[in-house]
Amino acid sequence: MIITLCNQKGGAGKTTLTLLLAMALEDVGRSVAVIDRDPQATSKRAIANLNANGLSQIEVANTPGKHDVTFIDTAPRLDEVLAQSISESSRVILVSSPSPADLWSTQESRDFVLRYLPAGAKTAVLFNSVVKGSRISRDLEVLAGHIKLSALKNCSIRRQSYQYAILQGWTALKSVERDEIKNVALEIGTM
Ligand SMILES: Nc1ncnc2c1ncn2[C@@H]1O[C@H](COP(=O)(O)OP(=O)(O)O)[C@@H](O)[C@H]1O
Ligand SMILES: [Mg+2]
Repeated sequence: MIITLCNQKGGAGKTTLTLLLAMALEDVGRSVAVIDRDPQATSKRAIANLNANGLSQIEVANTPGKHDVTFIDTAPRLDEVLAQSISESSRVILVSSPSPADLWSTQESRDFVLRYLPAGAKTAVLFNSVVKGSRISRDLEVLAGHIKLSALKNCSIRRQSYQYAILQGWTALKSVERDEIKNVALEIGTM
């Protein structure tokens, strides 16, 4: 399975979720690779650091290949590189905050995704940085419906621990925090 995470908006959580999902799948025994197509190379750097500290064995790859799952982390641009990544994918996840202003820009990214999505591949929005207990958190589906985006039922909450997990690794997370990400991974696998 090849999973691209994208959004033309920077700071949406593409890199954080790429790494968290990669660690979650590694934890359940999958072999995982990450292709970092953002010149900022944050994923690449984080993985090198995690691996050097014995906290993961995720492979940094240049092309999809022999792994159970390959994630493609992308730059905040709707460009040829993203088009190529989408066309190689079986899943394209639009990572977005649930803020209506961000969702309009996500809608534009979604239109781009649909232009290049291969037949049989799936796409959906993953709401990230959702404030726990907030009104928006109870209305994610309605919110997505307003702007005609289909969203994953599982989302990821705004947590400082997720910021540090890319440095401290999967085991630094509490089990409730790990389960939240595992549920997202499971849903992506079965969408
Ligand atoms: N669920 C979350 N909870 C708290 N902080 C988050 C969450 N997701 C992302 N962040 C933070 O938001 C910032 C942008 O995230 P990042 O993954 O780099 O976005 P992108 O790759 O889309 O530009 C980073 O500082 C990251 O730690
Ligand atoms: Mg990034």
